[in-house]
Amino acid sequence: MDWGLKNRMQRIFKEDGLTVMLAVDHGYFLGAVSRMEEPAKTIPPLIPYADSLMVTRGVLRNCIDPKFNIPIVLRVSGGNSVLNEDLSNEEVVVSMQDAARLGVCAVALSIYVGTAHEHQTLLALSKLINEARDFGIPVLAVTAVGKELEKRDAKYLSLASRIAAELGADIVKTYYCEDFQKVTESCPVPVVIAGGPKLKDETDIFQMAYDAIAKGAKGVDMGRNIWQSRWPVAVISAIRSVVHEKATVDKAVKLFEGLKNKVA
Ligand code: R5P
Repeated sequence: MDWGLKNRMQRIFKEDGLTVMLAVDHGYFLGAVSRMEEPAKTIPPLIPYADSLMVTRGVLRNCIDPKFNIPIVLRVSGGNSVLNEDLSNEEVVVSMQDAARLGVCAVALSIYVGTAHEHQTLLALSKLINEARDFGIPVLAVTAVGKELEKRDAKYLSLASRIAAELGADIVKTYYCEDFQKVTESCPVPVVIAGGPKLKDETDIFQMAYDAIAKGAKGVDMGRNIWQSRWPVAVISAIRSVVHEKATVDKAVKLFEGLKNKVA
């Protein structure tokens, strides 16, 4: 692996080979999502607890102070909105030159396997990988399921994740599901999980992170379950303990309960 690529991967995945990525890229098709109406206020307090930040270039340039020394995973696909029934019609919307100018550690795009735009998004992934290689920048493929949440099963997610890896993605982000080890075992590159829509309570978040790591995930790339919480710092701190300190779910809950009234 080229030095630049290796260095960027190692900045995202810590010495234990695991990572806590904070996902705040939702606005690229959802606009001002609940509790992320003001990214400049919501994101900075969480940065010290994240190993990397997944964000769009608009929010990065306008809402994140360059003084923060956090690896950036830049969302580079888009071109759709939640108002459209079909969310799969995405293309690459950021040049690699601009990504390099922003000093990012990785670029991210969604693929929509099994949808009307499967071909288009898989070609976009391949082209992005070809271009990103010239800059030594890793590519994270998001196995998006759009509005079709019924696709969250091991068979589909394993298929989509493996295809992304076969095309050359360096990291795959997918959803946690039953038999998740089938997804990680058949994917030769690190797999991280998205959190998905807000879960019933914090215990469920920690349980999902715990189970995902136990079944081979190399970390989490979570958004709404962190920053839509009333206690985002306490939630991300407890997730960190699960990922990096091998905390049990009980221990994570205790940590969360202890922190939630002390930190914002
Ligand atoms: C989709 O909007 C993005 O890829 C998100 O980064 C991803 O879904 C993770 O965020 P969440 O944990 O909120 O699902």
